[in-house]
Amino acid sequence: MFFQQDVLDEVLARSDIVDVISGYVNLKQSGSSYTGLCPFHREKTPSFSVSADKQLFKCFGCGEAGNVFGFIMKTENLAFPEAVRFLADRANYTLPEGKFEPNAAKNKAVREKLFAVNKLAARFFYDCLNSGEGKTASNYLDKRCVSQSARKRFGLGASPDKWDSLYKFLKSEGYGDDILNQSGLILYEKGPHDKFRNRLMFPIFSAFGEITGFGGRILDGGSPKYLNSPETPVFEKSKNLYGINYARKSKAREVILVEGYMDVIALNQAGFANTVASLGTAFNKEHAKLLKRYAPKAVLVFDSDTAGVTAALRAIPELEYSGISCKVLTLSGAKDPDEFILTYGKEAFQTAIDKALGSVAFRINAVKNKYNLSKTEERVSFTSEVTKLLAELPSAIEKSAYAKEVSKISGIPEEAIITEVNSAQNVEQNVRLPVRLKTEAEKDQAEAGAREARRSLLRLAASNKGIAYAIDEVLKPSHFVEATLGEMFTRITERHRSGASFTPAEVLNFFDTYEKQKEAADVFSPKNPETAQEVNGERSLLQLVRKVLESYYDHKSSEACSNNDLSELNAILENKRNLSKLNIKVTDC
Ligand code: GTP
Ligand code: MN
Repeated sequence: MFFQQDVLDEVLARSDIVDVISGYVNLKQSGSSYTGLCPFHREKTPSFSVSADKQLFKCFGCGEAGNVFGFIMKTENLAFPEAVRFLADRANYTLPEGKFEPNAAKNKAVREKLFAVNKLAARFFYDCLNSGEGKTASNYLDKRCVSQSARKRFGLGASPDKWDSLYKFLKSEGYGDDILNQSGLILYEKGPHDKFRNRLMFPIFSAFGEITGFGGRILDGGSPKYLNSPETPVFEKSKNLYGINYARKSKAREVILVEGYMDVIALNQAGFANTVASLGTAFNKEHAKLLKRYAPKAVLVFDSDTAGVTAALRAIPELEYSGISCKVLTLSGAKDPDEFILTYGKEAFQTAIDKALGSVAFRINAVKNKYNLSKTEERVSFTSEVTKLLAELPSAIEKSAYAKEVSKISGIPEEAIITEVNSAQNVEQNVRLPVRLKTEAEKDQAEAGAREARRSLLRLAASNKGIAYAIDEVLKPSHFVEATLGEMFTRITERHRSGASFTPAEVLNFFDTYEKQKEAADVFSPKNPETAQEVNGERSLLQLVRKVLESYYDHKSSEACSNNDLSELNAILENKRNLSKLNIKVTDC
């Protein structure tokens, strides 16, 4: 956790949710809650509700929920610590960072110094580009049709064709060799000198606009074509995307993924601010995670050569595993997006984006291109390779749609393909069969009931100290099965023990992702809240506890089954039988 609990509480206390959300949504009061049009989905009648008592929001239309931090994370596209900072600033509250973690404070000082050095260097390169010294570089940009405003927007620059001019400049600004060495801008073998010399300079910005490092392009046909800053405490290639600062601000739902710096610039210049590129490395999980914070969808526009196709095929699973659905655009008539837009213009590019293939169609196409379909045996190989791909698809509708497609391509009858897909699937299912104790439907139903019981218990515990302590006597956090709920229970009992009263909103601060906060907020905003009478009796409390424990033991026993652990299984079943003897006692406090 980045901040201590009391700091989070303080910021929360100074950020009344109704007040904050009113800055974004037109709220109307009805009792202790407020309603308005949901900012997270389109609607005509208000289903977005803000509770002043609970300090939570919930949309009954789209399901988004959370406390004021969650709201800011979602609307301002911020991570949890950033949302805390945002609200602290708004409330004129100075965060006592570093007070608790001396190391973090030191690292923070180094990071800030590096950002400052990078900013100065960018300024230096920018001034060079716009002076006589940068003539070659600015002619080069003219030749590539990079507008003046795009140069400014991306802070493009030129490094002088000299041994150590940046070094001298940064020294004169008072920076020591230690920090310059760490910045990667100055190299120290053979005496201190500039890493980037006589290159076109691309500052690389974090999502929040800090300069983390640089890319430098050679101005003639020499090699290497690009040099990048080395990894530094503020520059991690595998976690950074070029253009992410503008993509974040664009708030587009769909991001355009390209390969090169120049592609990002050309597309921005044409009005596509939602464009990012990796920094010359293969697209990986970290990139996908970063993107996921800003957009749920991506269109891959990679170079039209085989390397581009291979890169797209590798990127698709990384994106889709992170929950980003993607399409792929294969450009024709141009080697990359930059050339495409310069040749055909932005409308043509938009049209091409709209026609991009879904990732499945693209993958089928890639397999198709490997085979010569005029030969029977190759048609068979194509079909069997593609069948495996279809078997992995999550929905039956997709499967049958693509089976039809594959049949058209290969000339092999659709039924034959469907039979193949089904048998490829059965192989997988058979492996899982022996551990299935209940049918899926039965399991789902029992699970849904148990989940509701866990959530009811948490609401009850939050609202009443005596009930919380009574539950604590019989349940451990792990009994709540879902980690988030278990952690909430720990938080709630801790809060009661500390003696202070608290709002549901405060229970959420333990979680630092929006998703988890939402899960926690959901607990407090049920569709049909239990009434006080229903839950006051110990009997119904006991029923809820039993249901929760039963579900916990069911989980444990299927685990024991799949591990073939018979003694564990017997112990669990014994515990389950003893549930009938369980009692619970609530004392008033
Ligand atoms: P132009 O060739 O000027 O159009 O640049 P580009 O941005 O389109 O580059 P290209 O498509 O050749 O390469 C895509 C990306 O790969 C670049 O933007 C760089 O991030 C990276 N890259 C290309 N060449 C090199 C290289 O020689 N070294 C390193 N480290 N990265 C490179
Ligand atoms: Mn290019």
